[in-house]
Amino acid sequence: MPDLQKMALAHELLREFGSACLRMREAAVIIQRDVLSVQAAIQTTVTPAAASPEAAARPSPLLELRAMTKTFGQVTALAGLEASVAPGEFVTVVGPSGCGKSTLFNIVAGLEEPDAGGVLRFEGNSCHAADLLGRVSFMPQRDLLLPWRNVVDNAILALEVEGVPRAKARAKALKMLPEFGLAGFEKQYPHQLSGGMRQRVALMRTFLFERDLMLLDEPFGALDALTRAMMQRWLLDVWQKYRRTILFITHDVDEAIFLGDRVLVMTARPGSVKLEQVVDLPRPRRPEIVTAPEFVRLKRTLLDAIEEESMKSFQSTVAQEKAL
Ligand SMILES: Nc1ncnc2c1ncn2[C@@H]1O[C@H](COP(=O)(O)OP(=O)(O)OP(=O)(O)O)[C@@H](O)[C@H]1O
Ligand SMILES: [Mg+2]
Repeated sequence: MPDLQKMALAHELLREFGSACLRMREAAVIIQRDVLSVQAAIQTTVTPAAASPEAAARPSPLLELRAMTKTFGQVTALAGLEASVAPGEFVTVVGPSGCGKSTLFNIVAGLEEPDAGGVLRFEGNSCHAADLLGRVSFMPQRDLLLPWRNVVDNAILALEVEGVPRAKARAKALKMLPEFGLAGFEKQYPHQLSGGMRQRVALMRTFLFERDLMLLDEPFGALDALTRAMMQRWLLDVWQKYRRTILFITHDVDEAIFLGDRVLVMTARPGSVKLEQVVDLPRPRRPEIVTAPEFVRLKRTLLDAIEEESMKSFQSTVAQEKAL
């Protein structure tokens, strides 16, 4: 073989090797995150402190966050965030990219501890973030399906790790499949599914892990507009049936209003709650509600708040780039 051809072949092989290394690194990151969310699913529950008679008299929020701050080295992701969520409520969270939304979820899921000084209460009891591991169900920003497990076995992952016998967990998941639009797909693997189906498997896993509070981090972010609209209606039906409390991150204002009882708008980083907007629209919500004057009015208010924060976020990114 001529030298030039050998060199071209060697170059090709090196490039293949390099991209294989990158793919392996990416797979390692996914597995590491999955292990974390599985850990979140299996940790022991917190022992509630005895409630005072006064506290017992008034209904307490399911989740309360006071003066919540989180720094990562030089970066302050959250600063003085205040929020509370009532039992059974559907609260949507919007805000500029990088303002700390996923960080907030990681704290509530028990995967990150906030800085000292903040107060975290769950079911009226003050606790550490780590105490919440396994007390909430969490769907992280990526769907985290394991490529070597089929639909049913992906759906039962958290149950299995929790110690539920596989046969029992599978039977439970099989019953739920039609409701999640996955009937007949139980034996399929993630690569054989559409984006919407993958999201439904991940959601089914989150629903199967029965906890009062569900955290959904941009569950429909990667879907096309039509599939997304169908998934939103479907989620509202499922939520109305199971009546869990939901915290839901989205970048889509229409989605935030259509789904939520309340929308929290976050500030640019460091994130805190800029605006709490009650969505006083009747349920069940029909698709045409998005053109109702009340919906449009809410959208204007929210867009104004979000645009202001997105602009701040954009300007600070530009300033940082200039400083480099
Ligand atoms: N584990 C970490 N270590 C260091 N920095 C982190 C870590 N997690 C988040 N950050 C930083 O905290 C900030 C907030 O990140 P976060 O992922 O919470 O944003 P987000 O609002 O979810 O953004 P997006 O809308 O793009 O998903 C970012 O500047 C990010 O780089
Ligand atoms: Mg995020």
